[in-house]
Amino acid sequence: MPGFKVAIDGPAGSGKSTISSRVAKRLGWTHIDTGAMYRAVTLKAIENEIDLTDEDAYRFLETSLIHYDLDRIYIDDRDVTEKIRSDEVTQNVSLVSSFPYVRKKLVSLQQKAARDGNIVMDGRDIGTVVLPNADLKVFLTANVEERAKRRFAESMRKGKRVYMKNVIDEIVLRDKKDSTRAQSPLKMADDAIMLDTTYLTIAEVVDKIIDLIDKKEKKHGD
Ligand code: CDP
Repeated sequence: MPGFKVAIDGPAGSGKSTISSRVAKRLGWTHIDTGAMYRAVTLKAIENEIDLTDEDAYRFLETSLIHYDLDRIYIDDRDVTEKIRSDEVTQNVSLVSSFPYVRKKLVSLQQKAARDGNIVMDGRDIGTVVLPNADLKVFLTANVEERAKRRFAESMRKGKRVYMKNVIDEIVLRDKKDSTRAQSPLKMADDAIMLDTTYLTIAEVVDKIIDLIDKKEKKHGD
């Protein structure tokens, strides 16, 4: 696997995607948001009206094309970047991503996408399952109130009316589902560096990660 691989994991609203995207842009590297892939599968499953609880019904993945490029997610060459953020997708994505078959398919795609070049990949199981040999693993956290505030602000910016209480409930529920599922639960890798972002700005977190990359790259060069 030539190139430098960065794995960024963490719970809902910890800022993974925004931060990973900015780190990658600053360095001219490739960013891959694996959460967007699970969301795209969830969207297609809903649109196809399959029984979401039936693992076999996800066989449509055998003939589906999923790829993430320059902050956009495509399924079967259709740009679904905005569509995957709907409430219906958010409410069902933890269920869809709990199926071993779905995970196997997406993990294999993610590993292929990370094979060449310098990569910043974010998700829930990147440091533990997808890229266990990553050069740098970061686990982002923030307290629930702060994560909910960020989600709330994001929804408002998009002109979506939401209630703070619902945002908190949704985050707590998704954290619980993601960290207690049998398959690849959200868990910090033993060799990951934990970064609590509660009191940090996005720019500060980006700077810290770039510092960590610089240090590791220097070591590589020794
Ligand atoms: O909403 P947020 O950006 O925090 O989540 P996301 O990164 O878009 O991921 C959506 C959902 O996909 C998560 O709640 C997980 O259930 C699932 N996921 C996963 O199981 N494994 C990953 N590597 C990434 C996401």
